[in-house]
Amino acid sequence: MTNTINIVLTGMMGCGKSTIAKKLSEKLPNFKLIETDELIIKTEKKSINEIFKTQGEAYFRQKETELLTQLKDQDKLIISTGGGMFVNHKNQELLKSSFSVYLSATVETIYNRVKMDTKRPLLNCDNLKEKIKKLISERELEYQKATCEIKTDDKQPEKIADEILEKYKNHGN
Ligand code: S3P
Repeated sequence: MTNTINIVLTGMMGCGKSTIAKKLSEKLPNFKLIETDELIIKTEKKSINEIFKTQGEAYFRQKETELLTQLKDQDKLIISTGGGMFVNHKNQELLKSSFSVYLSATVETIYNRVKMDTKRPLLNCDNLKEKIKKLISERELEYQKATCEIKTDDKQPEKIADEILEKYKNHGN
């Protein structure tokens, strides 16, 4: 494979971005795996919950854009983004030369994957299913601006990673 452009995974919290990014990096050993949330946690020395609580969501969004700006001239990256990152047009612009993948899933699938989670401030709410539904409907049109969409319901990460690689190899041909 000669393609070296960055692969970006986007989609809702719980759609499997991190798991699939790890699978992809096993299959592409000369690519570097970037977890945007993990990098922000490391540089801010705070959890995502703490950042949202003390500095607010807008500050977190600013950190996401700053991080993408730093990565903009690097290639051979697999970037697993936080679920809100690709929604922002400035970030889409910074990622426009990348091969971006929207990992889609139904409300039910997302709900089942995140219902026990406490690390995501936006999902710390009473009516979780309604909140997921609302976020998907607000964000879907933006997620769909990615280079391609892969439906993840009832699929194993291995299969999803292979589907991504297949599309990636054929991209630009
Ligand atoms: C967010 C998703 C989270 C994290 C933050 C906000 C979002 O990442 O960036 O809690 O707005 O969808 P994951 O998608 O990895 O859970």
